[in-house]
Amino acid sequence: MSGIYIHVPYCKSKCDYCDYYSVVTSQGRENFGNLVEKELILRQGYLSDSEIETIYFGGGTPSMLESAQISDIISTIAKRYSVSNNPEITLEANPDDISEEFVRNLRSFGVNKLSLGAQSFSDIDLKKLGRRHNAKQAIKAVNLAHKLGFVNISIDLMYGLPYSNSRIWEENLIQAFTLPVKHLSAYHLVYEEGTPLILKLSKGLVVPVSEDQSVEQFQLLQEISSMNGFIHYEVSNLAKEGFFSRHNTSYWKQVPYLGLGPAAHSYNGISRDSNPKSIIEWQKSIKNGVIPTEQEVLTPQDKLNDYLVTSLRTMWGANVDTIAQNFGDGNAKQFLHTAEKYVKLGIVEQRDSVFRILPKHFITSDGIISDFLAV
Ligand SMILES: C[S@@+](CC[C@H](N)C(=O)[O-])C[C@H]1O[C@@H](n2cnc3c(N)ncnc32)[C@H](O)[C@@H]1O
Ligand code: SF4
Repeated sequence: MSGIYIHVPYCKSKCDYCDYYSVVTSQGRENFGNLVEKELILRQGYLSDSEIETIYFGGGTPSMLESAQISDIISTIAKRYSVSNNPEITLEANPDDISEEFVRNLRSFGVNKLSLGAQSFSDIDLKKLGRRHNAKQAIKAVNLAHKLGFVNISIDLMYGLPYSNSRIWEENLIQAFTLPVKHLSAYHLVYEEGTPLILKLSKGLVVPVSEDQSVEQFQLLQEISSMNGFIHYEVSNLAKEGFFSRHNTSYWKQVPYLGLGPAAHSYNGISRDSNPKSIIEWQKSIKNGVIPTEQEVLTPQDKLNDYLVTSLRTMWGANVDTIAQNFGDGNAKQFLHTAEKYVKLGIVEQRDSVFRILPKHFITSDGIISDFLAV
């Protein structure tokens, strides 16, 4: 079982807060699909013979690709790999790119999950974040995708925004749950290095939310989503039963994946491999038939830390027996020592050999998890 991720490194414009790798130029876009297919063939041995369960087009803005490019990439994967009978095929899309024709095409190529970057349903927020769409367009995009047969629709929302407040966030959530969505990714804003937003922060042009406001908004997220039957299954992800992201869940469960395109990462259980964060470098390598990755062979400690970071972010938690089996009794003992401290505090719950951070404490999970890491 494995996954394939395709990083589409194009955006029509850059949003103020975002540091995902993408370029605003359309240079080379018409040839992007061909190069991804070439990379797919070049790196065919990476995943050995395992069956592909999930395919994920992320970005950047995958909805800027021509439909034919998306179709060709999916066909090449199907030709070169054994794809399971019921794969999850996801495409991230910006609401302003959604047209009836595009959605119909995606459905006909087998894309069965659409992840729409709504971010907020407040036009003031959207403008200040540098988004190209307005709230009406996001609502229209979700409804159109639903009308044309998409059952599995996810939206991205952000909270902890400097211009916003808890009332607007509450209204955003209420709006979100009136829509036919089955999955919600809700991210607390992070001030990323090198973004226009962090520059504004350093100049005092934006004021970050207080810790109390962050907690209040996180609690609103939990209350309103739970009232609507959504399960908080990972720090930033909530869904109706049966609609947890299979692709992301496989990252959190150490399932191997192949990442294609500039800045994409891959993992095969032995190494983590990174493609260059440069579209030019990536294109040059692929055109020359050279695998573009930089390889980092994982030490047992890296693997243990990966296991802890990913599993403790989810409602499924970490299993001390798995740690003992894969990383030895010493590491299991150390894990238990830390886990018991958090169990006593009522932050971590123990069920047999499984320990999980209770979802109501997900907001502080980064600090808790760092306490578990082997150094
Ligand atoms: C790959 S990005 C965007 C996909 C798509 N291009 C879009 O804009 O809708 C995935 C999501 O990460 C979130 N995100 C990006 N930068 C963030 C930041 N600095 N803090 C919190 N969330 C962020 C946004 O919700 C975004 O939709
Ligand atoms: S949030 Fe999406 S559209 Fe905006 S810059 Fe990032 S990847 Fe591009």
